[in-house]
Amino acid sequence: MLEAIDQRRYLIPFRSQLLPHVFTDTLVIGAGVAGLRAAIEAAADGGDVILLGKGPRSQSATAWAQGGIAAARAAGDSVDEHIKDTTVAGAGLCDAAAVDVLVREGRDAVDELLEWGMRFDRDEDGAIAYGREGGHGRHRVLHTDGAATGRELMRCLSDIVPRVNGIREFDDCFALDLLTRDGDESGESRVLGAITHHTRFGLQIIWARSTILASGGAGQAYRETTNPKVATGDGLAMAYRAGARVGDLEFMQFHPTTLYVAGSARQLISEAVRGEGAYLVDQDGHRFMVEGHELAELAPRDVVSRAIVDRLARTQSEAVYLDVRHLDRDGFRRRFPGLVRELAAFDLDPARHLIPVHPSAHYTIGGVWTDLEGQTSLRGLLAAGEVSCTGAHGANRLASNSLLEGLVFGRRAGRRARRQAGQSQAPIKIVSEIPEPEHADLDLFDVASSLRSAMWRHVGIVRTGRRLDDVQDMFAFWGRYTMDMIFDEPAGWEVQNLLTNGALMTRAARWRTESRGVHCRLDHPEPDAAFTTHACWRRGDHAPVRVNATETVTP
Ligand code: SIN
Repeated sequence: MLEAIDQRRYLIPFRSQLLPHVFTDTLVIGAGVAGLRAAIEAAADGGDVILLGKGPRSQSATAWAQGGIAAARAAGDSVDEHIKDTTVAGAGLCDAAAVDVLVREGRDAVDELLEWGMRFDRDEDGAIAYGREGGHGRHRVLHTDGAATGRELMRCLSDIVPRVNGIREFDDCFALDLLTRDGDESGESRVLGAITHHTRFGLQIIWARSTILASGGAGQAYRETTNPKVATGDGLAMAYRAGARVGDLEFMQFHPTTLYVAGSARQLISEAVRGEGAYLVDQDGHRFMVEGHELAELAPRDVVSRAIVDRLARTQSEAVYLDVRHLDRDGFRRRFPGLVRELAAFDLDPARHLIPVHPSAHYTIGGVWTDLEGQTSLRGLLAAGEVSCTGAHGANRLASNSLLEGLVFGRRAGRRARRQAGQSQAPIKIVSEIPEPEHADLDLFDVASSLRSAMWRHVGIVRTGRRLDDVQDMFAFWGRYTMDMIFDEPAGWEVQNLLTNGALMTRAARWRTESRGVHCRLDHPEPDAAFTTHACWRRGDHAPVRVNATETVTP
């Protein structure tokens, strides 16, 4: 099925010795929370770091993150309770050691942010105001300006970066592929850096002793998504081409509530709104979550998303509604000033109107398989944040654990890279040869929108084996003429990466013949104990390697 994808090692033909070279100790690919935190750590003690950003930081998934950062810091809360909520949401697939690290070190990560001057919302007494979101048994989510936490986090980390000696920031720079030296006598390949494309300077090779992937998720593989345009799964696709193990790709998290107004972007309406008491109602005003789950609107988001899909089918409608009209008007305005402003642009006043919402693809739970220090299955390659998979989220990520993940595992990956910085790394000759394409020109926009629609309709919130088979055939067909092409700018490479992500997700979803967490198979509606395992794939594999979910993850 993945033949056309598996055949491509590099996206473009090149000869390394003919391109400009840059050298560094640590190359960090991605400048969201995980990348920034990793870079800061890797450069501590004088390490040299190149921090690569694909687009403007304001357009990153981190900057768009709303709800906040979950950390067990409020009076009466505990690490154990946060671990329990994370594990319950993860539906039997959480890696216990990863959850422990995430939650325990998450508290220190938040303390560090406070030291670095990050602003969080406070109550009238000046104490941090903790919010509550789906799946959390307590108020434990730190937030800024209501639901603009990601923006302030980016401001805070971006202010720290220039103060750390040794970080060179390369903006508008697209990483095409990881460079590898083929296996030595032990058969292991080693990552030596990346080939990149800069909007002004063109192609160049960055040789690095360690490379950290922190390039985010692949929400753009879906027609409906909360993710920014940059979220095209480039890191996952390039790691797969380089031979790294990738895992748990059947688990794409859908956020239940994105604004559903014709012409608006699929703007996330934070779960924090339900945390403040918003109801979800259908077009007849019926509050359907009350009969759907004991936590009603605050059930884990996979439960809420499926209940919405079910309700839309029953009522033959396009949207359900958030109803906040019973909440204190001024209190709501104070808590969510940005949301109130954004809704006003569509003539919606939450004190008077229902807010139309619909689920969208939100967070890529699976990713490049790592241990607890970000080490992937390839030497020289680390990964952190949404592009990675430590097993901490299991089959369903708990709300507001993702910025936390970027902070905790970004720091760990940076520290690991710093330890490797002394190892010498000489450049080598790498030649990528690709035959001339056999196929005619391609309408990139058409391929991208077809694959995004197919993913949304058939590899979305509910799935069936028959539909997944159809989508797999489509990917095989699209792959033959899309992976065959040689592009010379990011738009083409992004479509090739989206195709790779979509095909890998579809293959993984076909393989998992059960329902668990965010992965719902109508033809296999129950969890199956035989699938209490992670599934990892490598380029060329026909079956996954299973990793026991309760073990510490080893790459
Ligand atoms: C939200 O604000 O609802 C999103 C938070 C998250 O994805 O964790």
